[in-house]
Amino acid sequence: MIRSRILGTGSYAPRKVLSNKELESMIDTTDEWITTRTGIRQRHIASDDEPNSLLAAKAGRNALEMAGLSAEDMDLIIVGTFTPDMPMPSTACLVQAELGAKRAGAFDVVAACSGFLHALAIADKFIKAEPTQKILVIGSEVLSRRTNWSDRSTCVLFGDGAGAVVLAASEEADSGVMSTHLHADGRLWELLTVRGLGTSCMVDEDMLKQGLHYIEMNGREVFKHAVRALESAAMEALEANGWSGEDIDLLVAHQANIRILEFLRERLGLPREKVFINIDKYGNTSAASIPIALDEANRSGVLKPGHKVLMVSFGGGFTWASAAVTW
Ligand code: UT7
Repeated sequence: MIRSRILGTGSYAPRKVLSNKELESMIDTTDEWITTRTGIRQRHIASDDEPNSLLAAKAGRNALEMAGLSAEDMDLIIVGTFTPDMPMPSTACLVQAELGAKRAGAFDVVAACSGFLHALAIADKFIKAEPTQKILVIGSEVLSRRTNWSDRSTCVLFGDGAGAVVLAASEEADSGVMSTHLHADGRLWELLTVRGLGTSCMVDEDMLKQGLHYIEMNGREVFKHAVRALESAAMEALEANGWSGEDIDLLVAHQANIRILEFLRERLGLPREKVFINIDKYGNTSAASIPIALDEANRSGVLKPGHKVLMVSFGGGFTWASAAVTW
């Protein structure tokens, strides 16, 4: 049986760090509120000359290096993002040029915070259909450019960064990507959205004045849906693989709120050390959060061959997804 396997991971975060303390001097908030309500202590912020594609390419290069492959070995580059450099071309095309991945096709996937798992699921199916394919899968966001810095209910949450994996076929039946599941409920789109910059409204002064180019979120409602959807995504993945909570070696969930991660940990009956947490350092980086966490877990030696890894995400759309991987 052909399975796709992660040959290398990589990540990149912009050098500039914005701490909760610094936010205290910008808006009416406190380090204590942000830390206890979200688990976030700081976030990375891209500088003006760092577009999404640059972050994505750096993460991609790191993943290729670990995989021992060159950009020219890649058949496809898929970038999960909702903060592209521009509406056209795709960020993936700009990454393809930046890396010199001459043979690779390239496209973006828009599924907000579930973007990376959607991209991973597509790449997994590609490889099963065409086992010679080698695919660079990236989740990358520059959320700071879509953040309303005067809205304290959202601006403390988000950060910029990118993570990547290199995927290729493996003949080993009991390792690699074991399952992927994707879900959406578009009826609830207004609870988490960037209304402007698309074709449903004109880009004009009025639109900018209303701040429609910024992320809007009904945090309390999103929270309720997120915990339910993440739990159901996790249960679906366990069931599909005949795994129980006890089988999981590492839960790598979207880093949106430490309280959501704690809820998931309890529902799955996991000890604290089996839940990977780096929200304190990066905040919510949307599609980048899972691949950044995966890369940190991998490089720090937390992940070991044979480990059962469960990834789950939830985001705007709504979208939610899972991937079960035997490392
Ligand atoms: O990545 C996609 C998925 N995203 C998520 O899953 C995010 C889900 N939502 C959340 O994580 C949480 O809802 C938030 C962290 C966004 C907000 O936490 P909360 O506990 O739901 O707070 P809240 O919105 O219910 O607000 C509670 C209070 C309010 O004050 P009053 O009305 O009780 O007086 C807010 O005005 O906290 C106030 N507040 C703040 N206070 C200090 C809201 N933001 C801040 C802030 N600093 N930054």
